[in-house]
Amino acid sequence: MIQLHDKQFVPFISAAEIDKTIAGMAQQIEADTNNEVPVFVGVLNGAFMFLSDLMKHYKKPCEVSFVKLASYEGTQSTNTVKQLVGLDKNVEGRTVIIVEDIVDTGNTVVELVKMFEGRGVKQLKIASLFFKPEAYKKDIKLNYTGFSIPNKFIVGYGLDYDGLGRNIPEIYQLK
Ligand code: IMP
Ligand code: MG
Repeated sequence: MIQLHDKQFVPFISAAEIDKTIAGMAQQIEADTNNEVPVFVGVLNGAFMFLSDLMKHYKKPCEVSFVKLASYEGTQSTNTVKQLVGLDKNVEGRTVIIVEDIVDTGNTVVELVKMFEGRGVKQLKIASLFFKPEAYKKDIKLNYTGFSIPNKFIVGYGLDYDGLGRNIPEIYQLK
């Protein structure tokens, strides 16, 4: 068990399981991209670890960029998604794969899709390591999801509780 701020968390998903799942996702993306050179767009802060491991498992040519959004306060999703850093790359005619740590209500995904409208993207796909199907309220299709999990707050592997826990190599769940 670990303690972050005022809350306790218990082990949920091991580092080995995470790695195996990400390897499978990378293979799936490789199989789908044919001769395209995709641009992986990581959503900061939470997706930095997932993006890094996904790219290491991806064996074909690819590029990377980042955007930064924030919607969470403590352990609750808020309805306003703030864009903190926008996209600095020309993605016209490109296959773009948005790389998210977790999709919860889907508010962030909606903002991300909006960000790419009017940019002439050839294909826009979404890869999220975690997905909370019970919380998801949107129609946007997620192309690649690693783990579908219960609607319970998690930390570790890039995900935080008020800034803490991102450095933990495994996933912990709120006790
Ligand atoms: P959404 O906009 O409600 O889908 O929330 C998406 C964002 O909230 C994710 O990109 C995470 O940064 C954060 N988030 C959602 N669920 C969790 C969680 O269980 N732990 C930590 N962060 C979360
Ligand atoms: Mg995030």
